[in-house]
Amino acid sequence: MAGGTTLQKAIDLATKATTEDKAKNYEEALKYYEHAIEFFIHSIKYEAQGEKAKECIRQKCQQYLDRAEKLKAYLKKGKKKPVADGEEGSKDDKKSGDSGDSDTDSDPEKKKLQSRLEGAIVIEKPNIKWTDVAGLDLAKEALKEAVILPIKFPHLFTGKRIPWKGILLFGPPGTGKSYLAKAVATEANNSNFLSVSSSDLVSKWLGESEKLVKNLFELARQRKPSIIFIDEIDSLCSSRSDNESESARRIKTEFLVQMQGVSNDNDGILVLGATNIPWVLDAAIRRRFEKRIYIGLPEEHARGTMFKIHLGNTAHNLTEEDFRKLAAETEGYSGADISIIVRDALMQPVRLVQTATHFKRVTGPSPKDPSVIVDDLLTPCSPGDPEAIEMSWTQVESDKLYDPPVTMKHMLKSLATTRPTVNEDDMSKLDKFKEDFGQEG
Ligand SMILES: Nc1ncnc2c1ncn2[C@@H]1O[C@H](COP(=O)(O)OP(=O)(O)OP(=O)(O)O)[C@@H](O)[C@H]1O
Ligand SMILES: [Mg+2]
Repeated sequence: MAGGTTLQKAIDLATKATTEDKAKNYEEALKYYEHAIEFFIHSIKYEAQGEKAKECIRQKCQQYLDRAEKLKAYLKKGKKKPVADGEEGSKDDKKSGDSGDSDTDSDPEKKKLQSRLEGAIVIEKPNIKWTDVAGLDLAKEALKEAVILPIKFPHLFTGKRIPWKGILLFGPPGTGKSYLAKAVATEANNSNFLSVSSSDLVSKWLGESEKLVKNLFELARQRKPSIIFIDEIDSLCSSRSDNESESARRIKTEFLVQMQGVSNDNDGILVLGATNIPWVLDAAIRRRFEKRIYIGLPEEHARGTMFKIHLGNTAHNLTEEDFRKLAAETEGYSGADISIIVRDALMQPVRLVQTATHFKRVTGPSPKDPSVIVDDLLTPCSPGDPEAIEMSWTQVESDKLYDPPVTMKHMLKSLATTRPTVNEDDMSKLDKFKEDFGQEG
C-alpha cells in the first residue's frame, strides 16, 4: 500500500481510537474513530492507487465504522457496558442494532442525518434570471412547464395531466447545465431548491450513503413543492456492474426506489439531474428521468448574446456589427469558452495600464464618483501621441486613472488564443445518445 500522508494519519488516528476504546474511554474513542474514517475515505478518494488497495482500506474502514456505530448507540442510551471490541454483540445489543435499519426507532438518528444533509444542500438563492441564460429556449420552456406552471396554475395539472417528475440535462461540458439549474433555483421561488452534489451523497459515510439518499427525498417531501438538483449525476448512478462496491450499488437501488417507489408519494417533487457523460447512466435511472433534454453547443445568435451578457456593464466600444462578427467566428465554442474569451479580453486594458510607458490627460467620470466629470484623468497612450507624457502606472494616483474601454481588437486577440474545449469525440457520443434517448433543448 502506498504510505501516503493521509493514510498514515488515518492509521494513527485509528490506533488512538482502539487504545481509547480498550481503556473504556468510549467518547474519546468515538471521536478518534470518526476522525480516522474521514481520513480513510479521503485517502481512498485521492490517494490510494489500484482497486486492491482501495478495497483493503474500505474493508478496514467498514470495521471502524461498525465499531463507531456501536459506540454511538451505547453512548446515546447510556447503557452500562457496551459490547467489547471483537466479541460480537450481546443478545440485547444485536436486537437494537438490527432494528436500527428499519428507521422506525431511530428518529434522532434520522434528524441528525437530515441536518447533515441540510449542511450539504445549497439553499441560498443564486441570482441568475432566465434572461441571463443565452439560447436554450426549448430547455427553458420544458423547465418552466415542469417547475413554474404546476405551482402557479395547479388546476392545469389535475387528472391525467401530471407535471414531469424527472428531467435530465445532458450535453457537452460548459454549455450551461449547472447554470440553467441555478436559473431554475432563482426563478422557481415558490419551491424549495435542494441542490446536492453527488460527492455530498457519497463521500462522507460509507454505510450511511443510501440513508442519505432516502433522507434527501424525505426532506423534499416535507418541504414540497421542491426541486432536487443533483449535479454530475453520472458519478452517483452509473451502470450497475459486478465489480462495483457494495455501497455504490445500495445508493443506486435506494435512488431507484425513491424516485419511483410504490410507497413513495412524489407529488410536487421534481428531480433535476445534469451530466456530460449520459451514456454511463444506469438504464433504470435513465428511465426515471422522463424528459432528457440535450443542452448543446450554443447557436450563432446565442453566442452573440453571451458576449453581451459576459461583458455586462464594463466599459466597451463594441458595436452590434462587432458582436455579430464575434458570434460568427466562434462556431464550436461552448458558453464557458466564450466566458473565458471575454474575461481575457476584460483583462487586456489592465495589462495595457501595466505596460504603458506614456499616458495622456482625458476628461471623464471620476472613478470615485461616476456622476462627477473631471478633466484630469490619465489614460495609457502611444509614445507618438502629441499629448503623451512619459510616465508609468506607479506615478498615476489611484483616483486619477481612466480605464481604457474594451475594444474589438482586445476581443479578437483573446479569441485567437482561446481554443474550444469540446472535441469531436465527445460530440459524436453525445449525438448518439441524443438520437437514442434524448430531445433537443
Ligand atoms: N447559455 C449560457 N448563457 C450564459 N452563460 C453561459 C451559458 N452556458 C454557459 N455559460 C457560462 O459558462 C459557465 C459554465 O457553465 P456551466 O457550469 O453551467 O457548465 P456545465 O454545462 O454545467 O458544464 P459541466 O458539464 O462541465 O458541468 C457559466 O458559469 C456561464 O458563465
Ligand atoms: Mg456543471
